[in-house]
Amino acid sequence: MAEKISVAQARRPEAIGKEVLLQGWVRTRRDSKGGFSFLELNDGSCLGNIQIIADNRLLNYESEVKRLTTGCSIAVEGVVQASPGREQATEVLASRIFVYGWADPEKYPLQKKRHSYEFLRTIAHLRPRTNSFGAVARVRSAMSFSIHRFFQEEGFLYIHTPIITASDCEGAGAMFRVTTLDPLSKEPRNPSQDFFGKPTYLTVSGQLEAEAYACALGKVYTFGPTFRAENSNTTRHLAEFWMVEPEAAFFELSDNMDLAERFLKRIFRDVLEQCAEDMEFFDRWVEPGLIQRLQEIIDSEFVRLTYTEAIDILQKSGETFEFPVEWGRDLQAEHERYLTEKHFRRPVILIDYPRQIKPFYMRVNDDGKTVRAMDVLLPRVGEIIGGSQREERLDVLEQRMEELGLNKENYWWYLDLRRFGTVPHSGFGLGLERALQFVTGMGNIRDVIPFPRFPGNAEF
Ligand code: 4AD
Ligand code: MG
Repeated sequence: MAEKISVAQARRPEAIGKEVLLQGWVRTRRDSKGGFSFLELNDGSCLGNIQIIADNRLLNYESEVKRLTTGCSIAVEGVVQASPGREQATEVLASRIFVYGWADPEKYPLQKKRHSYEFLRTIAHLRPRTNSFGAVARVRSAMSFSIHRFFQEEGFLYIHTPIITASDCEGAGAMFRVTTLDPLSKEPRNPSQDFFGKPTYLTVSGQLEAEAYACALGKVYTFGPTFRAENSNTTRHLAEFWMVEPEAAFFELSDNMDLAERFLKRIFRDVLEQCAEDMEFFDRWVEPGLIQRLQEIIDSEFVRLTYTEAIDILQKSGETFEFPVEWGRDLQAEHERYLTEKHFRRPVILIDYPRQIKPFYMRVNDDGKTVRAMDVLLPRVGEIIGGSQREERLDVLEQRMEELGLNKENYWWYLDLRRFGTVPHSGFGLGLERALQFVTGMGNIRDVIPFPRFPGNAEF
């Protein structure tokens, strides 16, 4: 009986001599004189294909095998043997080939040549069959698991925060409203008949709810989809993205910085180790030198400095920036990149931002002008992590909310956390897609999530 194995398993020398069953999609077919053909088969288990040798002893050789084209799905039974070729260790001599599905070459949009990422975005349902998107999917899976492993090992409890929420965490207003539809007309119902009795939104961050759990269980993290209706058509923004947010009681900003640095190094290291073949692919085809640069970051010590110090460096840099550098204004991607790529040539953790450019929940410093914010900036992608120490003093927090015109009644439960047994605590959020962009070298964030949502696009 043939053993059902994956292409990844069949490519290993240990498989030689085994009788196997492989199932996957044909990448290419090449016919040779003398009545045999080579098929390249891929099943997504790894980047590489396995070469199948099919010859005219197969009953369907003329009728089917010689009609196979890119995208056809097949099963192959055969024996794994050592390959005389240098590119691969093994190949499979087929004794039976079964065709599950044909893919009309006149219509199938994927061909052997390289397609542009722009084109592939229009066929997001088929792009996982390409080398690049298969590799992205495997790295995304490995990184997600690495994130869980890291926090579990650090003693953080995984909690699930709601997707539908009534509170606006970032106070930025870039939210999607949740409505119910009239069952007949399929039109949104009158807001006064709202299902929840109050306006609700898709969450922009699980932080506020994570704080409630941190202020009971100590160390927690939430990891799930978050939504932002910001109309930013950039290579770094999505309307739906995944965020991992640790939150810890009795954590000062310095603890938070240490955690963020350990965390990033760990997930980068895990991906390099566990996705070696895919990472070599990105290094070769997407961003030359990528692996070396990741390794340098793993071995480096992140620079830590205040926003005020950063402004000073930028002003003295002699660079001409598109956006002005002025104390009190938010940093733009070009400023973040200058700091990480030109000035320090290392990751930078920036802290103590002006209070007026940061959300209400960040702890106000003694100077009264800055807050205990923390952004982690990386070369090429800029901000990858945003976080802070939280304001745990009820009176200061209430005053901040008033200043910002927030309705305190809506946040009554959040204020309760300061009313009853308040503690210093901190946390941060890492955008999974920004991290993936960084480790894969992919230029556009839309290409590191399976089905990207951005203004004007929700086709799939
Ligand atoms: O800096 P942000 O807005 O911070 C928060 O939401 C905090 N509540 C997190 C916390 O402290 N628990 O977002 C955090 C990170 C950013 O650094 C970035 O990596 C990512 O989320 N991010 C986005 N990624 C893709 N598309 C967008 N539109 C993003 N907005 C933020
Ligand atoms: Mg931010």
